[in-house]
Amino acid sequence: MKLRELKLVNFRNYKEVILEFNPGINIFIGENGSGKTNILEAIYVLSLTKSSRYGTDLDLIRHEESNLQVAGNVKFDDYEKKYKVTIDKFTKRVYINGNQIKKISDYISEFCVTSFLPNDIEIIKGSPSVRRNILNIQIGLLYNNYLKHVNEYNSLLKIRNEYLKRINLNGQADTKYLDIINNKMIDVSLKIYYFRFFYISEINKILPNIYKKLTGISDIKVYYQNNLGIDKYDVKSIREMMQEKYKKNLYKEMMQGMTLNGLHRDDLIFLINNLDAKIYASQGQQRLIVIAYKIAELLVFKNIKHEYPVLLLDDVFSEIDIKRRNNIVKFLKKDIQVIITTTDLEEIEQDLVNGAKIFKIKNGEIKIKGGAKCKKKK
Ligand SMILES: Nc1ncnc2c1ncn2[C@@H]1O[C@H](COP(=O)(O)OP(=O)(O)OP(=O)(O)O)[C@@H](O)[C@H]1O
Ligand SMILES: [Mg+2]
Repeated sequence: MKLRELKLVNFRNYKEVILEFNPGINIFIGENGSGKTNILEAIYVLSLTKSSRYGTDLDLIRHEESNLQVAGNVKFDDYEKKYKVTIDKFTKRVYINGNQIKKISDYISEFCVTSFLPNDIEIIKGSPSVRRNILNIQIGLLYNNYLKHVNEYNSLLKIRNEYLKRINLNGQADTKYLDIINNKMIDVSLKIYYFRFFYISEINKILPNIYKKLTGISDIKVYYQNNLGIDKYDVKSIREMMQEKYKKNLYKEMMQGMTLNGLHRDDLIFLINNLDAKIYASQGQQRLIVIAYKIAELLVFKNIKHEYPVLLLDDVFSEIDIKRRNNIVKFLKKDIQVIITTTDLEEIEQDLVNGAKIFKIKNGEIKIKGGAKCKKKK
């Protein structure tokens, strides 16, 4: 899929702008604070309906304005579709071809992105919730049913936690009611576990090869540290173990008023030579692991959906040595649309610059190199 046109209204530092993209490489150059990341963030919002950075939806609205719009025309093999996200103080709306889509989970998974953004180093360094989040996003882009299962699990979790708090206060547990919730949670967990095990095994099939091409080392894997401590998907044992944990921990859970076990506590561990990269890998290595993981995401997506998502690269090359930059570039095949930001064109490999569409940004105003301003004609 290729993003052909993007329109922003009141998005961050952009009042109104329309951009036409190259189906191949697109490069945004500009000084710090000029608005490069904002463009990538807008494309991310168009795909996932929320920001790639910290903060709320309202932070995306241009200061002193009350609503924003991000719209894009996306070209698939033999048709084109229009996607749009609007946000105001009260609500967020999403549209496909002009029709409002009521459930966000029905919107996500058509226009897809894979991104490498500065915060992504948190995939290694950050808390488990960062890793669960990227897992949910990527599996959700592949299978939008997955997001529905995750939403259902989260609602059940909330109900269960509220109930646990209540019985902590009045000291009486209606075990029949808890059994019903537990069984529902087990049913939906089975669906989520299925996708998580499948996705991580797909990543592990290709990650060592990618990391080897980047660094020369192939001993890398992602270990799925699930809360049940199991290493393969098995309906019977998952069911039994979850039942067992709910039973065993009931008193503790009542005292604490929350569900202590379940896939909301899952984590991923990146292992190089069987050692936890969070503890043992250098800063540069951690960056390369994340890049390798992102390339793996891209390739798994292609294997399953038979096309590439749009790749967003925010200032990726600045901390990577020349040899490894070249190795990364080799993965960026001709049929992938890439949108890159940089403060300095020198940092980007000549191979990528040749034939790229280059946008120059200054204070929220964008010009195509050697061309006209990208602004809506009034
Ligand atoms: N809601 C908003 N309304 C108006 N301007 C905003 C809003 N949010 C952020 N900005 C402005 O956007 C600019 C930052 O843009 P962005 O993060 O895209 O910069 P950048 O070009 O990626 O910089 P760097 O090279 O440092 O990464 C800042 O000047 C900031 O003040
Ligand atoms: Mg930036």
